[in-house]
Amino acid sequence: MVLAVPKRHGSYTTVLPWITKLPLNAVPVKTERNCLSYGRQVFRKMYFTVYSMLETVSIIYSLNIVCLCVCVGQGTKEEMVWGKLDGFSFWPGIIIPCRVKKPGMKMVEWYGQRMSSQVSQTNTYSHICSSSVSAGICLCCGTESVEIFHPLFKGSLCLKCKDNFTETLFRYDEDGYQSYCTICCYGMEVILCGNDSCCRSYCGDCLNILIGQGTFDSLKELDPWICYLCQPHRPHGALIPRVDWSIRVQELFANNSAMEFEPHRVYPSIRANLRRPIRVLSLFDGIATGYLVLKDLGFKVDKYVASEVCEDSIAVGTVNHDGKIVHVGDVRLITEELWGPFDLLIGGSPCNDLSIVNPLRKGLYEGTGRLFFEYFRILQLLKPKEEDPRPFFWLFENVVFMNTHDKVNICRFLECNPVLVNAVKVSPAHRARYFWGNIPGMSRPIIASQKDKLTLQDCLEIGREARVTKVRTITTNPNSLKQGKGVSQLPVLENGKEDNLWITELERIFGFPKHYTDVRNMNRQQRQKVLGKAWSVPVIRHLFAPLKDYFACEQLPV
Ligand SMILES: C[S@@+](CC[C@H](N)C(=O)[O-])C[C@H]1O[C@@H](n2cnc3c(N)ncnc32)[C@H](O)[C@@H]1O
Ligand SMILES: [Zn+2]
Ligand SMILES: [Zn+2]
Ligand SMILES: [Zn+2]
Repeated sequence: MVLAVPKRHGSYTTVLPWITKLPLNAVPVKTERNCLSYGRQVFRKMYFTVYSMLETVSIIYSLNIVCLCVCVGQGTKEEMVWGKLDGFSFWPGIIIPCRVKKPGMKMVEWYGQRMSSQVSQTNTYSHICSSSVSAGICLCCGTESVEIFHPLFKGSLCLKCKDNFTETLFRYDEDGYQSYCTICCYGMEVILCGNDSCCRSYCGDCLNILIGQGTFDSLKELDPWICYLCQPHRPHGALIPRVDWSIRVQELFANNSAMEFEPHRVYPSIRANLRRPIRVLSLFDGIATGYLVLKDLGFKVDKYVASEVCEDSIAVGTVNHDGKIVHVGDVRLITEELWGPFDLLIGGSPCNDLSIVNPLRKGLYEGTGRLFFEYFRILQLLKPKEEDPRPFFWLFENVVFMNTHDKVNICRFLECNPVLVNAVKVSPAHRARYFWGNIPGMSRPIIASQKDKLTLQDCLEIGREARVTKVRTITTNPNSLKQGKGVSQLPVLENGKEDNLWITELERIFGFPKHYTDVRNMNRQQRQKVLGKAWSVPVIRHLFAPLKDYFACEQLPV
């Protein structure tokens, strides 16, 4: 949630995250969103809550600033400082050339308030770029009580901003770009990276505060503008990209629930001649992605029992796998270990009541959210007893943009932290997902193989030209196929005309064989619906591959 305060001349201006910090605790009464586009690059993303706005105004008035005077420092070289103001830890301001009465005092215009005050230099921190101060303050809200390092840029995050960051970093809008600023993960006016495969946005306040006044306006003139993480890494004022940011993001998400768990039980691998065909129970099986991947990897599958309620999805699994999948219907009706024992339990429960993208979500304990507990219940049923040495593996998947409490609770039940895997590393589509489980090597980096199709062009039919390299997360919503900045754009050109992705192309993007979902005379929308819920095939390959050390495989035709 981000705040906006009305400007005198009618439009809105944004207020600083420093101000938004306090009302973030508050529950908004009403949140509305307003997006305007400025040319190709700039978006104004504003969030306006009546309740919070009132609170903001009162915060501004309650600031205890001595020697108030209004001073405009345009056209001068401005030096950024941080000063202590009553009720806040540090507040950013700019030293403005203005005659001051006492020696040693400077006139500081406090950011975002059109107010200035005379302060003694000893009360401010300057040059946050060069000092260690930035490491010790939260890059998002300026507080000093920090929790962890910011994973992308030098500096830190406080506990509250860390929670917000992990909830929103992988949240994308209809335009395919991050809903929130890459640096602070709050909304506001943002500029978008012009690199096709990058979906990052950066807010004006972060750029102006960390790099220098006017940065945002000058970047708006550049088209395309390539963002700080896509450019070769170098400092930009106080904004210093971390060289190892992609690893740090992984680590943040791996450890983000800040909980320590007992390590999983370790099973020694099984000698090749003793390995047996695998027995699998797949909950929320969807279009049998699990079965497809096991067969692709060469596993001999003894049995694959699937719980699924969607008739279209069931048909896809049945037709493609010659009726070898045993469908057992609703997960809630699985009462005992009727078909066991099993070696592998997999499943990703529906995310619509967990995903923070859904404003009407019901959370983990209501609606489809509570189907997670069905997974948990069955996991308890299938887990071998302590004294039983038989290897047993499990995998649970869900979306990344879920409420921190829901995620922490899932971790508590499953007794481990998830790993974050984004399909964009091995396919042309963004798809960041959490995976909990005990499959060995789950947290190893995911690396594309030669077989993986990494660009959209690799997935298109002949005569069709990709307009982007990577597409944004594909959901069950047909609009999720549109790409582009501001003006939505279809991802393909054919004979000079823009076109949507064909279903066969969508199948390829997810890693499925062509026509995989062409069953039951399903129309385009139905096929996108089952695909939009599915796992990305190369991601599941990556996760299942280590199981080859435990279960029998056959030689695959080359
Ligand atoms: C996120 S999708 C999983 C898709 C799957 N991983 C794939 O690759 O296709 C969740 C699935 O759970 C199914 N589902 C919903 N309620 C269910 C229930 N009560 N029992 C079994 N499956 C259910 C939905 O039909 C949907 O296909
Ligand atoms: Zn913070
Ligand atoms: Zn920002
Ligand atoms: Zn970028």
